[in-house]
Amino acid sequence: MLAPCAEGGQREGMTTQAEISAEIAQLHGKPSTDPNWAPHRALTDYAPYRSSILRHPTKDLHLTDPETIELTSPAFGRRDVGEAESDLTTMSTGEPLGERMVVEGRLLDGEGRPVRGQLIEVWQANSAGRYRHKRDRHPAPLDPHFTGAGRTLTDDDGRYRFLTIKPGPYPWRNHVNAWRPAHIHFSVFGDAFTQRLVTQMYFPGDPLMPLDPIYQAIPDERARDGLIADYDHDLTSPEWALGYRWDIILTGSRKTWTEPEESDE
Ligand SMILES: [Fe+2]
Repeated sequence: MLAPCAEGGQREGMTTQAEISAEIAQLHGKPSTDPNWAPHRALTDYAPYRSSILRHPTKDLHLTDPETIELTSPAFGRRDVGEAESDLTTMSTGEPLGERMVVEGRLLDGEGRPVRGQLIEVWQANSAGRYRHKRDRHPAPLDPHFTGAGRTLTDDDGRYRFLTIKPGPYPWRNHVNAWRPAHIHFSVFGDAFTQRLVTQMYFPGDPLMPLDPIYQAIPDERARDGLIADYDHDLTSPEWALGYRWDIILTGSRKTWTEPEESDE
C-alpha cells in the first residue's frame, strides 16, 4: 500500500528551481490540447514535472470489463478494517516523533451527500520526510515507531478521521534541489477497485507549493486550493494534537483532483 518516494529521472545538466518556476509561471492559464482534459484534471504532459516526461499516459482512456480486471487486481485485505488502523501514532510499542495531528473530513458526492462505508487509505512520510520504503533513499531518519500507513471506513455521515504525525517535506530528483511540499496520500474506493481514486492532501501556508511541479500541474486554481486542508482549532485535542479538516468531493464541479495511476511521488 505504501507508495514509494520516486527518485524520478535525474539526468546530467538538471534544471534549476528558478527555471522550473519560470516554466510553471509561463504555463499558468494555458489551455491544454488534450481532448480528455478538464480544468480540475492535472496536465499529464507537463514539462516542469520532468520525471514524468517519459512515463506519463500518452494514450486515451479506454473502457474495460470491470469483472475481468477484478480477477487479477488486489483484494481489500484479509482482515476487516479495525478501528485502531486509523491511529498512525499507536502502531508500534513506542511513540512516533513529530507533531501529532487529527485529520478529519467527509467523503461527499457532487451534491454534497455523504458517501458512506467507503474505504479510505492514507500513506505518508514521517516527520523527517522519510517513507518507510526501500526506494526512499532520502538520508533522513526512519522512525521505528511510525509506518506511515493507515485506513478507515467512512461513517454514516461520510466522515473519516485519522490521528497521525505531520509529515515533513522531502527532496526528489525532478530538478536541482526539488522538494515536495508536506502531503498525505489518500486513496478512496467506490464500489469496486476499478473506481479507485488517489490524491494528495496539502497543508495551508506551505511555502513549497508554488515551487512544486506536481501541485502546479493542476491548472485550475480552485482545484489546487481544494487539495489544501484547513487548520481547524475545533478539531484539536487539547494538549495532545492539532487538527486539520479536509473534505473529498468525488464528482461535480467541486470535485477533488485525483491523480493518474502512474504518479507515485
Ligand atoms: Fe509522497
